[in-house]
Amino acid sequence: MKIDFVLNGTPTSVDVPPEMPLLWVLRDVQGLKGTKFGCGANQCGACTVHVDGSAERTCRLPVERVAGKQVTTIEGLSPDGSHPVQRAWREIDVPQCGYCQAGQIMSATALLAEVPEPSDEQIDRAMSRNLCRCATYLRIREAIHRGAALSRGEPSEAPPSAGGAADAGEEMPR
Ligand code: FES
Ligand code: FES
Repeated sequence: MKIDFVLNGTPTSVDVPPEMPLLWVLRDVQGLKGTKFGCGANQCGACTVHVDGSAERTCRLPVERVAGKQVTTIEGLSPDGSHPVQRAWREIDVPQCGYCQAGQIMSATALLAEVPEPSDEQIDRAMSRNLCRCATYLRIREAIHRGAALSRGEPSEAPPSAGGAADAGEEMPR
């Protein structure tokens, strides 16, 4: 079945079974490996992307549900890793193994789009379903505050990555 949606700003058409999870379409059909498979059961948040601006898990989301919608993955957050949250992630040096971090960043950016200056409690609530086996939670919270500050125009301490999509999401193992 042909399904049309907008992927990272580009009109996209895929011919796949309508029940195929969006995560499979992103990784195996579109070759976007930044979004990770963790639990496959809607439990860990590693597969989080934005659908029409909201953080959504993709490991159980049938691709037919995003027909006509805007899907943004970690690769589409910025062309050069210069999104304030990606810059904050580098400044704070958040990742450990990195596996969960693309999903963490996508949830964090969705939060800041809705709540530009979140409290610790709002951050903890918004991020509570994104699990990190390396327990980077305190650095994630710090980086979200820092991302909020950078979004307000505070100067950055680390230059944008020169490596195109080589950003905080790209440094993860694939
Ligand atoms: S892989 Fe989708 S929630 Fe864990
Ligand atoms: S950094 Fe290792 S699982 Fe989160």
